[in-house]
Amino acid sequence: MRSLIGINDFSVEELDTLMETAIDIIADPKKYSEKCKGKKLATLFFEPSTRTRLSFEAAMYELGGSVLGFSEPNSSSAVKGESVADTAKILSCYADILVMRHFKEGAPYVASRNATVPVINAGDGGHNHPTQTLADLLTIYRCKGRLNDLTIGYCGDLKYGRTVHSLISALSRYTGIKTVLIAPEKLTLPSYIRQDVLEKKGMPYKQVSSLEEAMGEIDVLYMTRLQRERFANDDEYECLKNSFILTPDKLKDAKKDMCILHPLPRVNEISVAVDDDPRAKYFEQALNGKYMRMALILKLLKEAEENSEREEEPQYRDDLRCDNFRCVTATEQELQHKFVLTDEENGVYRCLYCESKAR
Ligand code: CP
Repeated sequence: MRSLIGINDFSVEELDTLMETAIDIIADPKKYSEKCKGKKLATLFFEPSTRTRLSFEAAMYELGGSVLGFSEPNSSSAVKGESVADTAKILSCYADILVMRHFKEGAPYVASRNATVPVINAGDGGHNHPTQTLADLLTIYRCKGRLNDLTIGYCGDLKYGRTVHSLISALSRYTGIKTVLIAPEKLTLPSYIRQDVLEKKGMPYKQVSSLEEAMGEIDVLYMTRLQRERFANDDEYECLKNSFILTPDKLKDAKKDMCILHPLPRVNEISVAVDDDPRAKYFEQALNGKYMRMALILKLLKEAEENSEREEEPQYRDDLRCDNFRCVTATEQELQHKFVLTDEENGVYRCLYCESKAR
């Protein structure tokens, strides 16, 4: 039985197949309208969401299945102190597949280790958001006709922007990808992405301090919102919130076929005047998310039918402690701390749940 916790749980071939399925669904939705008849999807959302939760719901309904769940933790027994592990065990009794968004990094992984049905990570803290990446990949592919040989510019909150982390990881497995990082100094990319992905894989990247500096070379501009909910205090957010705002004027040196993405919601980082630019693809991106989620539900349910065994955990050591206060181990006191060797050459161990480096 497979789950989707991080985007690299799937091979490039599997991502390609998911995109093929999504494109086939777009071409002939009727063919898929009863594929999940009798199946139930549970949405466990401990954080707010518009696109992810509702596109999963729409996806399951369009496949002929049904949906149950909660959209905020106060309406679940999490407020009484129920653990992520117990919640996953219980929801496995009621649904065939679980979709979890959680403010704690690694929570969907914990769910996947305790559920008896597939679990999909719908965003965990500032860590990962693999199904957004599925939407991003399909959008890039439909706009550019390829996922290789592209210069991708990431702009905004690269520290807490989990969609950026997942997309960089996904694209690291394609060839000829150049990365441009455009972020305030306090919101640069975490080391587990910069060192373990970009540097380890020898992917060319550069950091610039303004959109204009790199605009002319970018094929895909990925704008992001500052993740206000993850800032330690509001003063810091107020200082940084207007750092990068995309306006029509800033696009004057951009390629004519550049594509502008944003996982949404936006606050002010893309002026609404940009929406009429044919390069603006962020609303199509949200729609593509529904088709990719349909393809994903089909894949995971089919694989669960073929093999109900949970995948094995990687080798880990349990004599280190994670000090990331956003990690699920910080609140789920009974969880065993687990660290895996991610860089043999430098002896780097990272938390299995949130990928923080062991100190
Ligand atoms: N892109 C995205 O995750 O949007 P929601 O937070 O609305 O789900």
